Amino acid sequence: MKNIVILISGSGSNMAAIARAAQKEGWQDSLGVRVAAVVSNKPDAPGLALAKDQGMPTEVLPHKSFESRDAFDTALMARIDRHAPQLVVLAGFMRILTPAFVQHYAGRLINIHPSLLPAFTGLNTHQRAIDAGCRVAGATVHQVTAELDHGACLAQAVVPVLPGDTAAALAARVLTQEHLIYPRAVRAFFERAA
Ligand code: GAR
Repeated sequence: MKNIVILISGSGSNMAAIARAAQKEGWQDSLGVRVAAVVSNKPDAPGLALAKDQGMPTEVLPHKSFESRDAFDTALMARIDRHAPQLVVLAGFMRILTPAFVQHYAGRLINIHPSLLPAFTGLNTHQRAIDAGCRVAGATVHQVTAELDHGACLAQAVVPVLPGDTAAALAARVLTQEHLIYPRAVRAFFERAA
């Protein structure tokens, strides 16, 4: 069995979309792939309950219990590696990762970012797209490299920016597309590897 470990910090809707696709499309039987664990750095992340509802094992590793970024990432690697994952999926995992972490999972670490990369790396992507007068916005699934929100693009979705859009309205429009492209990109990763 090939294992996926999903890392979350918040609502976990992308995680849930991946789990739904895995279930609906029978990834376990067709690809030999399963979500082995969902790990949150926040004990109160709403996504933890969602993961439990969908029958996924959850773990919490609070970053606040660690003195440094290095110490947290080292502990996180140990947690993740218990599952010997083929793929580590960042799904709203709001932590900057150390180069050692990224190096350790080189080629098997992917992220979704709510912009059309390379535009708008970092935070507040939707407001920044509106402020810049962009006519389109979107989301990108990409390989994770040591540089924040860089790395080869695996999938993108484009949505219009509408007149009078608020950041929240645009974020919601983008998120519905994230839920389509992220499961597809995960599936494609394993189909390529097969
Ligand atoms: C998503 O919009 C994701 O693209 C974004 O956080 C949200 C998480 O939602 N990620 C980042 O901003 C990473 N830099 P979710 O917890 O419901 O999947």
